[in-house]
Amino acid sequence: MRLWPRTLLPRTLAWQLIAVTAAAVLISNVGVALWFEQGTRQLSTNNVTDRMMDRAATVASTLAAVQPSLRASVMSTMSSFQWRFREIKGPYDARPMDEQEAALAKGLAASLQGKIPVTPAPIVHLHEPPGNLSDEQRPFRANPQDDLAQIIVPLDKNTLLSAVNRWPQQPVPYDLIFAAAAGILLVSIGAALMARRVVRPLSELTKAASVGATSGGVVPRVPETGPEDVRAAAAAFNAMNEKVAKTLESQRHLLSAVGHDLRTPITAMRINLEFVADSDLREGLERNLDELQQLTEQVLSAARGTGGESKRNVDLSALVESLCTDLDEMGEPVKWDAATPAPINCRPNEIRRAVRNLVENAVAYGGAADVHIAASPEAYEILVEDKGPGIPEADRQRVFEPFVRLETSRNREGGGTGLGLTLVKAIAEGHGGQVTLENRPEGGLRARMKLPRTPVPA
Ligand SMILES: Nc1ncnc2c1ncn2[C@@H]1O[C@H](COP(=O)(O)OP(=O)(O)OP(=O)(O)O)[C@@H](O)[C@H]1O
Ligand SMILES: [Mg+2]
Repeated sequence: MRLWPRTLLPRTLAWQLIAVTAAAVLISNVGVALWFEQGTRQLSTNNVTDRMMDRAATVASTLAAVQPSLRASVMSTMSSFQWRFREIKGPYDARPMDEQEAALAKGLAASLQGKIPVTPAPIVHLHEPPGNLSDEQRPFRANPQDDLAQIIVPLDKNTLLSAVNRWPQQPVPYDLIFAAAAGILLVSIGAALMARRVVRPLSELTKAASVGATSGGVVPRVPETGPEDVRAAAAAFNAMNEKVAKTLESQRHLLSAVGHDLRTPITAMRINLEFVADSDLREGLERNLDELQQLTEQVLSAARGTGGESKRNVDLSALVESLCTDLDEMGEPVKWDAATPAPINCRPNEIRRAVRNLVENAVAYGGAADVHIAASPEAYEILVEDKGPGIPEADRQRVFEPFVRLETSRNREGGGTGLGLTLVKAIAEGHGGQVTLENRPEGGLRARMKLPRTPVPA
């Protein structure tokens, strides 16, 4: 059972820390305030009742001492907004008193001993509803919500004095409320500062990990700062990252070694080919050797990631357009959406090779390629789309690994080597970018190569 809708609860660590600390301070403040209030209220209540009894006794003994005909004017002189003194004739039928009231009445009777007749005994009601009292008995301008106390003291055989007092109002403890609010504010600021110390390195870590997850590559070290356990997490992340880097590096070495070692026997075979007399056989072998050579070159480029080429300022739009035009002239079904100039600093031949690989895939597996460029303030995206079967979610990461070809394409005629996408990824990452695949809702695959717009030096 949930008492609270989930959306109202603070979700981030920082807000949870602030909420918990503020709540703790609030609760402790309220607790202390109530406890303190209780004590002072009791003290001041005792004080007030003592003064009430005193005043009632003084007025009663004064009235008992003056002539009955003067009592009315004495009583009205002594009445005020706080007190009202009136005579009540005849027996007074009051409701029973509680323990505290009875004790006060007893004390009052004792203090009046000898000054006035003490029968009937005095009556004290500390909280008399204003509605129970007649207009003449209530203090001037009494409100229905006023808290009134009534004390009844006999003056003579058939005259009673009704003394009604308005309880003093409890002032609103503004100073206490202000102190609590200031405390909560201070503590929340402290919690926010603390949370920032914890959250900053954590969000660095999250950022780095998600970059690593989408690019599948190695990310820069995250700073090992913050509290000890957060530092430990960052250190563990860095260690893992180094391990990934080493694994990728050794994979690259392996590919590079294989590529190199294949080059020599291929060259030797090409020389020996001259000695094959049968021209059909020679042509066949030559074709096979060409394929083998191409594969070797691809292995080597994939291993290198970035070749020896240096970066230049080019127009990415023009580069992609010329590639598409070339492919179109070669009879490939490639469509290109003209775009505005997209200046970028890159290794143009590599980018050309990467886009070509994506286009060739779209043509090979999707029948035709649709290419365009999207620009955002920080990056360009080259989008290559087709209307083929797409790639199932489970395989979309795997196809970037070397030599991975999906079941559907493996038995295709003149099949590739499974290095195309590995190369695209190495090139994109070599430019600080990334490549992702997604299935289009309307069917077919969309390959997205994102390249950051590096500042173009003038
Ligand atoms: N546009 C696409 N539509 C469907 N499947 C694709 C698409 N692009 C790639 N694939 C799948 O991903 C696999 C790997 O692609 P990759 O380009 O790395 O290798 P390849 O095309 O098989 O060979 P190579 O490009 O080295 O000649 C392909 O074999 C294919 O199964
Ligand atoms: Mg390919």
